[in-house]
Formats: sequence, structure tokens, C-alpha cells
Amino acid sequence: MSVKTYPVLEPAKQRALIDDATYQAWYRQSVADPEGFWGEHGKRIDWFTPYTKVKNTSFEGDVSIKWFEDGVTNVSTNCIDRHLEKRGDQVAIIWEGDNPYDDKKITYRELYEHVCRLANVLKANGVQQGDRVTIYMPMIPEAAYAMLACARIGAVHSIVFGGFSPDALAGRIVDCQSTFVITADEGLRGGKPIPLKANTDQAIEIAGRGGVEVKSVVVVRRTGGKVNWFSERDIWYHQAVATVEADCPPAKMKAEDPLFILYTSGSTGKPKGVLHTTGGYLVYASMTHQYVFDYHDGDIYWCTADVGWVTGHSYIVYGPLANGATTLMFEGVPTYPDAGRLWDVVDKHKVNIFYTAPTAIRALMGQGDAFVTRSSRTSLRTLGSVGEPINPEAWEWYYHIVGEDRCPVVDTWWQTETGGILITPLPGATALKPGSATRPFFGVQPQLVDAEGKVLDGAADGNLCITDSWPGQMRTVYGDHERFIQTYFATYKGKYFTGDGCRRDEDGYYWITGRVDDVLNVSGHRMGTAEVESALVSHDAVSEAAVVGYPHDIKGQGIYCYVTLMVGQTGSDDLRKALITHVRKEIGAIASPDKIQFAPGLPKTRSGKIMRRILRKIAEDDFGALGDTSTLADPAVVDDLIANRQNRK
Ligand code: WT7
Repeated sequence: MSVKTYPVLEPAKQRALIDDATYQAWYRQSVADPEGFWGEHGKRIDWFTPYTKVKNTSFEGDVSIKWFEDGVTNVSTNCIDRHLEKRGDQVAIIWEGDNPYDDKKITYRELYEHVCRLANVLKANGVQQGDRVTIYMPMIPEAAYAMLACARIGAVHSIVFGGFSPDALAGRIVDCQSTFVITADEGLRGGKPIPLKANTDQAIEIAGRGGVEVKSVVVVRRTGGKVNWFSERDIWYHQAVATVEADCPPAKMKAEDPLFILYTSGSTGKPKGVLHTTGGYLVYASMTHQYVFDYHDGDIYWCTADVGWVTGHSYIVYGPLANGATTLMFEGVPTYPDAGRLWDVVDKHKVNIFYTAPTAIRALMGQGDAFVTRSSRTSLRTLGSVGEPINPEAWEWYYHIVGEDRCPVVDTWWQTETGGILITPLPGATALKPGSATRPFFGVQPQLVDAEGKVLDGAADGNLCITDSWPGQMRTVYGDHERFIQTYFATYKGKYFTGDGCRRDEDGYYWITGRVDDVLNVSGHRMGTAEVESALVSHDAVSEAAVVGYPHDIKGQGIYCYVTLMVGQTGSDDLRKALITHVRKEIGAIASPDKIQFAPGLPKTRSGKIMRRILRKIAEDDFGALGDTSTLADPAVVDDLIANRQNRK
């Protein structure tokens, strides 16, 4: 296969912090001497007490991951206080509202005051170090204040994406026993209000039945929409912050004290609470932000993610602010008021670095180039992609049309679990191949293995593992360390298994091929097939369900559901609609099934295991090659599945 290669652009090389020789030298040192390398780079953040120990990690046995363990620091101090002297009046956050006429700028000095006040409100309401605070917010600056306020007092935040349903929110509140919630009256996206407070009220009721009683809810007034009010529990943000001090001393946090929990889907069971800690996470998030995007002082940086996902944590808030950057936060959607919005915002705020997801690129590509070319985009210098494999067509469009051949595209591969980017080009160092995340970041040691765990060398296709720890790595599954070990370190003993398939080419470049487990990636959102299945079977009409992904032009993967009904029920379009509504209520709109096929039976082995391989093939409309079906208990079910498939070309 011949693949186009784009050499490093000369201007990018000229201004880059890291050129190829530096990349090679640093990379070699980072894997030969991790202690020395990270001992040096750990100093990029400020410590109240410097660390003397750098790395203390083991992927064997009980799995224990500690970085900079005797260092003492505070994340909010690093993201705010340390910048005040030099850049107190520099803009920290540019907020661009859903409505194009709605925007504001927050300087580092203002950020300091907002964060301190909210931290004092939390304290006044009884939040203590180590307590879990749930944040269920729209994309407004107060979401960042909330994160940083928690970090300031050593509380552990758990952000739940505003698109999740009350049930999903309740499940997360209960799992980490969070008795404090920060939310808003409503969110606003594409001109439509999202009833965050009403959802929160419902979630609190559900959580109460689950044994967790939420004591206080801080509510930001965003739209002024009508909300129900429980005066013994609810607190208006604007009233509360006005009555507290504008200073709040930062808590002295040990490097391994928890910073946040973020729930993410796996192949089985409920979403897992991924736990990230303080020192190593911030070192890694800030270092990757600086070098992957080649961030220089004064640059305007925009990541379009939502703070409800890890990308928003590491690359809207923590990484950029630790670097004293100006970070843009966007409340809206790429297609409102029209499909040129992102590029209008680039021009309006003179954005230099732009980081988004392939699903957005594909959606906008479909709207035609005129929405792009009506903007100048002359400020743009670096483009980034994250969340799923980017298909070469979308990459080329991003590079040629959006970036006009001037801007390197950094295709960054990482995961909620990794805390920061692991495989990525560097703008001034790496020749690009469309569709490849290219090479490992400093300290990252990828390895490909086959199904039996045999290590594959050279050019090869296999399962992607990482053989040694990096500072941004998750430390445990909140409340379930055994699940952490089982999920990530048991498949291939002594290695972190990513769940992704991957090819390494003859140049040592990595090409992520997608999940090899039962995890879907729908528009860059990660979802367990098991979660959608359990939502479906919780509907009265459903007896059994199997969910698989299938290729979708815009979303990357679509959700295809095979549903077996209870005796006496018949499949109909009305029931399809009812099931879709039901899944949206259980999980949220992002889990909306794209196709539902009513199936009298599912293909099972004689031991009762559903053969998903066959279901995937049928969903892909590729039933000519179903492979061996001889182990099926009842091979005839396959004929029915094919005859009634929903995905005919
Ligand atoms: C999964 C992680 C990392 C923040 C957003 C998603 C897929 C992510 C890429 C990429 C190919 C990618 C992987 C990974 N993925 N980035 N550049 N190329 N695949 O975080 O929700 O934890 O999902 O997203 O399959 O395992 P997440």
C-alpha cells in the first residue's frame, strides 16, 4: 500500500520547541532513564515541597502506580496563582457562547478570584478534602471555576457530561457517594435549552433511593429558565459567591492525592470511575499540551471538546492553564447558526491552535467548502484531531481546505485512562501520514502483541499495549482496584492493555485500527455495548438484546441493536421509537440506537454465548463471509437475521 507522506513544514520546524533530533534524543533518554527524564520534567510545575522520589510503579501483582510521591503541590496554584505576577492581566479563558453575540474574556486575576470564591462556598457548605463533588454543567466558565475550586481545597471532582440522563447522573453520584453537586439552571446548545437543574433534581431523587443523599446543590444561573427550588438544599451560585472572601489558601496536596474521577465505559458492566491523581497528571497534561501543540506564550488555543470528557479536563482546563495559556471555551455546536461557525470563531478570536474530533470534521466536510472558505483562518498554525481514527479523506480535507496546506495536523491517540496524549506527531518534528497517529510521546513504550500475547516486532498488526508507566496514567478504578487490575493488566500480564487494535508500519509509525473489545466509539463518545443492551432489556417488551457497531459516515460507528421481544409482543415502528426513547432516558441522547432489528432468536453457541462476530457482519451488510457457523445451537436463526437486516445498501 502506498501512503502519502507530508514532510515537516519549514515554518513549523523553524518555530518549534522540539525538532526531530530533539525528539529522538529526548525519547531515547525518556525510555532508557525514566527517573532522570521525569525527574527533570517534573519541575515544570511548582511544588510546595519538591519530590525526591520520581517513579515507583509496577504493572505486576497488585499494580501500583506512584509518581513524584513525596512531592507536595496544588493543581489550582499551578493553573492560576503562579501566573499572576507575570500575566495577571492576560486572558486565561475566552468564552464563546452558543449565541455568536455572546462572549467574554476572563483574565488570570479574575480567574483567581472566581475560583477562590467558589472554593470558599464549597468549604462553607461542608465540603472537605477528599470529598467527591459532582459537576453537571454546560460549557460555561463556571465549569472551569468548579473544577479548579475543587482542586484548590483538595475535593475530588466527578464531571458528568451534560448530555447524560438523570439515571446516568444518579448512577455516578451513587458510585462515588457524592453528596455535593454543582450545576446550572439550563444549558444552551444550538439555541435549545437543556434542563440541567430539572435533571439534577430527578437524579438526586433516584440517588436517594440508591442510598446516597445529596446535601447541597450549587446552581449557576445561565439562561434564567424556570426551575424548581428546594431551599434547604439548593444554593444560587451568584448569591453565594458574593458573601465569601475573594482569597482561599490552596490545600497542600500530596502528588498521589486524587484530583478527579471520570466515568468511562468498558466492555462489561457499569461505567468505571477512572481515578487520576495530582502531580503526575498535571506534569503530563501540561507537558503534552505544550509540545504536541507547540504552544508558545501568547498563542490562542481552542479545543472544541466538552469538559464532560477527558479531553476537556486535560486540554481545555488543566494542561493549558498550567502553561499560562489562553484557552477558548465554546458553549455551542459546530453547525449553529450554520456550518461555518467554527471557522468564524477562529477568525473572531484569532485562534492559532485548533483541536477537534474526526466526527466534526466529517460532518462539516459534508456541508461543502464554502462554509470554510468564507473565513480567512490566517491565524491558524496547528490543527489537532482526537477521539477516533481519522479517515484519510477527512484528514486531507482538514489539512488542505481548513489548514490550506500550512498547518500540521496532529492526530493524537489517547484515552480517558491515559490522562494525556500517548501517540502523536509533534508539529516541528514529525512527517505526517494521513490516518496515522505516528510516534509515541516521551516516556511512552507501545508494544504490539497477538491474541496469545506473543510480542510482535517490526511492521505488524496486533493489540496495543504499553509496557511501562507514564505520569498521567490512571491509578485505579474508584472503589474497585481489582477491576482496575482485571480490566487493564490481566489480558497480557505485566502490560497495560489499551483495548485498541493497531498496526505499526515499516517506519515505526502507529495506525490505530479501533477497539478490539465490545466498546463502541460513536462520534468520539465511548460506549459499552453492554450498557446499551442492559438499557434495552430494562424495557418491559424486551427479553434479550445484543448490540454491535457498524460503519457510519459521520459518527464513525453507529449503534445497531438486535432485540428479541417478550412472548406476546410484536415488533413495530412504534415499538422501535419507544425503545429509542427508553435508551435515551436510561443513558442519554448519545446512546440513541441507529438501527433496531427485531429478531426471534440470537445466534448463540451451544453453551449460550452470543456470537457477536456474526451480528457484526450482518450489521455491516457483509453476510457473504460469516465464517464458521457450525458451532451455533440453531444455525437457522442466521437466515432470519439476514432476511430482516436493517442495513441494506
Ligand atoms: C478511545 C478512547 C482521548 C480522548 C477522547 C476519547 C479512540 C482516541 C484516537 C485517535 C484513533 C482514537 C481509541 C481509544 N481514540 N483517539 N487519535 N486515533 N483512535 O477518549 O473516550 O477514553 O476513548 O478512543 O479507540 O481507545 P475515550
